Amino acid sequence: MFKCTNCDYASPTKLWKCPLCWEFWTFLESTTNTKTAKKWNIKWNEIQEQTKQKSISFFKIQEQELKRVLSRGIKQSALYLLGGEPWIGKSTIVLQIIEDLITNNENIKIWYFSGEENIDQIYDRVKRLNLNIWEKIKIFHTNSLEDITMTSEISKFDIIVIDSIQTIYSDNIDWIAWSINQVKYISEKISSFSKKQWITAMIIWHVTKWWEIAWPKYLEHIVDVVLQIDGDRFGQYRFLRSQKNRFDSTDEVGIFEMTLFGLKPVYNLKDRILNSANISIPGNVLTIWVDWSRAVITTLEVLLNKSFGKYPQRTVIWVDSNRVNLIIAILERYLKINIWVFDVYVNIPWEFKFYDSWIDLAIACAIYGQYKNKIIDKNIIFLWELGLGWQVLKSKLHEKRLKEIPEWFEIVDYSKIKNIVEIGNLI
Ligand code: TYD
Ligand code: MG
Repeated sequence: MFKCTNCDYASPTKLWKCPLCWEFWTFLESTTNTKTAKKWNIKWNEIQEQTKQKSISFFKIQEQELKRVLSRGIKQSALYLLGGEPWIGKSTIVLQIIEDLITNNENIKIWYFSGEENIDQIYDRVKRLNLNIWEKIKIFHTNSLEDITMTSEISKFDIIVIDSIQTIYSDNIDWIAWSINQVKYISEKISSFSKKQWITAMIIWHVTKWWEIAWPKYLEHIVDVVLQIDGDRFGQYRFLRSQKNRFDSTDEVGIFEMTLFGLKPVYNLKDRILNSANISIPGNVLTIWVDWSRAVITTLEVLLNKSFGKYPQRTVIWVDSNRVNLIIAILERYLKINIWVFDVYVNIPWEFKFYDSWIDLAIACAIYGQYKNKIIDKNIIFLWELGLGWQVLKSKLHEKRLKEIPEWFEIVDYSKIKNIVEIGNLI
């Protein structure tokens, strides 16, 4: 038998990582007699029983935009990582998640360990956000890992929030705060500790501008759920995404706006966009983009301007520029139009970062409309992807996109149109 020196988990083979306490390289061979084997058998059954009882418990979340991202809620004894740039709204959204949890889960006990802000600052914020949580959570301003683990051992609670991991250090190590090794050590300790104590830990990760270096892959591996909040720091909207979720297949985006009173979920995005969309300009079209797996209606703008350089410029914001080049090639070849004499500008207004590359037809029609100086019918929304052989193809998550189209729009079934030349005639 081999045993984990950290938690006594026994295994017939030598393991490099303990499945119980998640420590690495802790297995040593142990000579087991039948008595200890029997004891271990009992313990093993106990563990199995515990897992059965506890494996399905989630703390409920009610708010719709949070629910899109967190789905069934916050899992017991799981590890959550919430990352985002400084000032983007991490602490704000966490406090709002806490309020939702407190409202919807009776007697839930939450500790908020803040390494960045002191109690006064947090109190100010809670008051400004008008959150009814002050008497119901415990807040501890500390930078010490030992403070966190000791507090957690003395008083039993369900969720701990650590804001942020980079500001926590341990008495047992000499590494300075914010160093990679320190973060690695602290997060591994919190991980094994929360698993053992059956506590959910929410770790806030302060992303610096060197995103990749600052967000080491190992951290993503040890946690169960990776959430990310992004957007333009000086803009109105914030997007909460789940990059990884061990318990739900969600890869949705929650959309919020930053107000004087915190992050407000945006429920009427479609109306807002349609009300402000100006499609009576040649080169402006409506389309449905899918970011992660959330479909949202949006305007797409194209401008063609006479090119004076040797090579025409393609300036593309939020759309894949290779995709735009490919569409230009298709248009030039099959519609016999000369786009190479123009600089092409493609833009998605609003603050959305655009990750979708399946809206070829919208781009093609916008370029074509601008080229012909023609306004495209107000009631047409362009979906569909284009093949290099001029075929019109279904976009990724096509049905989801269709659902997002308001009723008063005509849905033209482009699958019956054999090629892009016919679409050219349609405009
Ligand atoms: P914060 O949650 O402190 O960001 P982080 O924890 O990611 O550093 O949010 C700070 C920003 O949000 C700051 O720009 C101020 C703004 N904000 C508001 O506009 N309204 C509010 O009610 C709150 C709490 C913050
Ligand atoms: Mg903060």
